Amino acid sequence: MSERETVRETVRFTFDRVELPAEAGQSIAAALLAAGIRSWRTTRVAGQPRGLFCGIGVCHDCLVVVNGRAGQRACLAEAHAGDVVERQEAGHADLAV
Ligand code: FES
Repeated sequence: MSERETVRETVRFTFDRVELPAEAGQSIAAALLAAGIRSWRTTRVAGQPRGLFCGIGVCHDCLVVVNGRAGQRACLAEAHAGDVVERQEAGHADLAV
């Protein structure tokens, strides 16, 4: 291992009841992509799949439910150990946007 490489702690969270790993400090979106999951919400009108688009918190395409709170941007939300992350389907009762 070189001096520039660091060993990061791995945390585990669930996405739709499946346990997934994330590096400490990694966004939920990055962890989902690393697990091969490319979409995690649907649009309100057409029910089309959405996932990461802008990756910087602007477009809101990446919304997920985190620990029961809908409308969380997966590209900005850090994955924490024990987080319960769920797909955000159109028509979610707590959908703020
Ligand atoms: S991908 Fe655009 S806000 Fe998250």
